[in-house]
Amino acid sequence: MKLYIDDADLGEIRRLWEIYPLDGVTTNPTILARSGRHPKETLLEIRKIIGDDAELFVQALPKDMAGIIADGEAIVSAFGAKTVVKIPSVPEGFAAMKALNRKGIVTCGTAVYTPMQAYLAAKAGAAYVAPYLNRIDNMGFDGVRIVKQIHDLLQKGGYSTEVLAASFKNSQQVLDICAYGIGAATCAPAIIDGFTKNVAIDAAVDAFIADFEKAYGKGETMKSLLQ
Ligand code: E4P
Repeated sequence: MKLYIDDADLGEIRRLWEIYPLDGVTTNPTILARSGRHPKETLLEIRKIIGDDAELFVQALPKDMAGIIADGEAIVSAFGAKTVVKIPSVPEGFAAMKALNRKGIVTCGTAVYTPMQAYLAAKAGAAYVAPYLNRIDNMGFDGVRIVKQIHDLLQKGGYSTEVLAASFKNSQQVLDICAYGIGAATCAPAIIDGFTKNVAIDAAVDAFIADFEKAYGKGETMKSLLQ
């Protein structure tokens, strides 16, 4: 499963990018607004951190087809070929996905709450569809089940569109969809940090070092003992 950072905090992106095996960064208008900087400046910085080969997701703002297409073209020309244009999965959005697909611009159908939206975005040529798992949970439905349903629908229909599951609030939600073979997930930094936040893990690592240092001396490492 591909894994993305869902954030525009440059410090957090730099930190996580260095640690984890990640595939790119996703943003939305709310996330960009939260960064407190001009979106162009923020997105160019993110591109610099992740390099030209990783995927960067940027959302188009207008609600009309022509405006979405214009935003999509501007986004790709500003941030490079590996930039995916996020487009809300609504009627004008489907029209824009079809047009951008014809121009070779990669799109992601976002704001997906139902399998029907995902189906239409896939048919319109979106490379990804982004269901908002936790927001679906909060509406009283089972977000994990709906994400799996969308995955099955796309697979059985023979679409190459991948599910990019979004809006997580805990690592169990991520693990559930990972185990099902979902194509991609995007998570806020706190969720990614939570993947291995576990006192048992920390205690095991500390015990190894304590045992070794007790036997061979404080601060000794394999390198220091092998020279
Ligand atoms: C991704 O496409 C969405 O913009 C994002 O993950 C939504 O997350 P939230 O529900 O935590 O705001």
